[in-house]
Amino acid sequence: MATLKKQSKDVGYKSPLLAHLLSLLLAAGDVTGKEVDRKPNFVLMMVDDLGIGDVGCYGNDTVRTPNIDRLASEGVKLTQHIAAAPLCTPSRTAFMTGRYALRSGMGSTGHVQVLLFLGGSGGLPPSETTFAKRLQQQGYTTSLVGKWHLGVNCEHRGDHCHHPNQHGFSYFYGLPFTLFNNCVPGEGSDVLVDLQHALQNLTMLLVVGLFTLVCVRVCGLLEVSLWLLVALWFLTILATAVWYIPFELMPTWNCIIMRNQEVIEQPMTVETLPQRLLGEAQNFIKRNVDRPFLLFFSLAHIHTPLFKTPAFAGKSRHGRYGDNLEEVDWIIGKMTETVDSLGLANNTLMYFTSDHGGHLEDADSVIGQKGGWNSIYKGGKAMGGWEGGIRVPGIFRWPGRLAAGKVVDEPTSLMDLYPTLKYLAKDTQPDRQLDGYNLMPLLEGKVERSEHQFMFHYCGIYLNAVRWHPPGSDSVFKVHFFTPNFSPPGAGGCYDTKVCLCHGEHVTHHNPPLLYDLFHDPSESHPLTPDTEPRYAEILEQTAKAAERHQNTLTNKPHSQMTWDKILWRPWLQPCCGTFPFCGCKEETTHMS
Ligand SMILES: *[C@@H]1O[C@H](CO)[C@@H](O)[C@H](O)[C@H]1NC(C)=O
Repeated sequence: MATLKKQSKDVGYKSPLLAHLLSLLLAAGDVTGKEVDRKPNFVLMMVDDLGIGDVGCYGNDTVRTPNIDRLASEGVKLTQHIAAAPLCTPSRTAFMTGRYALRSGMGSTGHVQVLLFLGGSGGLPPSETTFAKRLQQQGYTTSLVGKWHLGVNCEHRGDHCHHPNQHGFSYFYGLPFTLFNNCVPGEGSDVLVDLQHALQNLTMLLVVGLFTLVCVRVCGLLEVSLWLLVALWFLTILATAVWYIPFELMPTWNCIIMRNQEVIEQPMTVETLPQRLLGEAQNFIKRNVDRPFLLFFSLAHIHTPLFKTPAFAGKSRHGRYGDNLEEVDWIIGKMTETVDSLGLANNTLMYFTSDHGGHLEDADSVIGQKGGWNSIYKGGKAMGGWEGGIRVPGIFRWPGRLAAGKVVDEPTSLMDLYPTLKYLAKDTQPDRQLDGYNLMPLLEGKVERSEHQFMFHYCGIYLNAVRWHPPGSDSVFKVHFFTPNFSPPGAGGCYDTKVCLCHGEHVTHHNPPLLYDLFHDPSESHPLTPDTEPRYAEILEQTAKAAERHQNTLTNKPHSQMTWDKILWRPWLQPCCGTFPFCGCKEETTHMS
């Protein structure tokens, strides 16, 4: 009896320990994905510069995008999906962090609106948190394949303080910078063209001056000191170096491919980029069928220079731009096929979007259209708060969870991804001030109204416009405090400079602000007046109050990452394979499937 009692006592003592051990084991099972109630996978696909009017399911009837359309018909299509900025660096920052870009110092104050050189020190601050970092903490395997454009180094080559690996992506393959015209010879330059010209002209002037003085001396016309000639000669060499090294070597410095922290191709071969990025994205999914993963597939398309992939060349009805669109669609189809064929469809949330609207100014007489089409919406890339630059496609497919063919017209933001992913990954840890909202209730049809009663539209760091979707109303009002000045005047964009700017003489301020109702006037062509809109005064008052409340949340101003000092190229920050400055390497592609 006594022994029995002792035994039962021992058992009684041991069992909580056992239970504890068991629960620990179960928890571990959860993380490795052996649990029934597994966390969902995320496949986020973002196209660069794609316009909302470029896609079939958003009303385009001449371009063929069956695979994107299929995602929409099998999932939820958002018709008022808004980028937080009309340019890549700030828009992508907001997307990744769930907050307006100026909260992390990634908003521009002047001419420089995006990062211009990989060898600059600006970028997504190491203190910022991305959705990838949050998911990583929840046991997710995370990867970025494709374009980053949020900086690399801070103080020396290889500190990788802004690198995707430091921002929650355990695997990175792709472009730490972006695809841009300088990557392909003969496509022209995208970076500080006016500065390049000024520097070249200065050098020419010096050369001419030097030769004239040499002639004068040789011919004995005047006494010219030898020292002056030597000094001038040095100055000429220096001036040449200043524009030649950062600008002429743009492809070597910026068109590179990295795998994790290693530069594996420099300069990159653009022709094979689409298939390599797709292959990497597919392989990442294949490697991770057994555990929850996040893949952010950030396409190099459809930014210029346009690809010339033979399988698509000349096939569309919209020239090379249309060919590239159809290639994008094919890639999206391959991604869906990969998810489906691995049996992951019901447990994978697939998302399709663009970082901002199409670039209207991008066209030439040879190729014709080179930038995206923004449908009925006014403006485009880099045009502040005009709808065409910020309203983008937004499609969510998740057969296990979301109804097929649903359409949501409510205002939503790319910044909503961050809280949505956190919610789905069951991350309830405290966080910073976010500007996005969990989209699941809206996507699942549990609520009818978006939580974005107000939305703020930035041009650089300047509050450009406010959107108001008043409770109980269909209207979506938008007030513009200022608008970009188009050049030449009257044109539908800034054709002289290729992008519009947000400050000084480049904008026109409106007092009272310009007011539109997007519900009745989606192309923002008929400003409302007190005579045409009974709620006119109330709208101005409500939006002004909302702007003030919003600005009160922006108290701790971070250091700007977009100052000249941080943007300009520095040799010691330049990612390089080999010995700087003799950088150069090619990816070995033998292992590729
Ligand atoms: C379809 O997209 C192409 C390519 O951007 C564009 O040129 C065309 O105008 C669009 N058509 C419609 C009906 O939106």
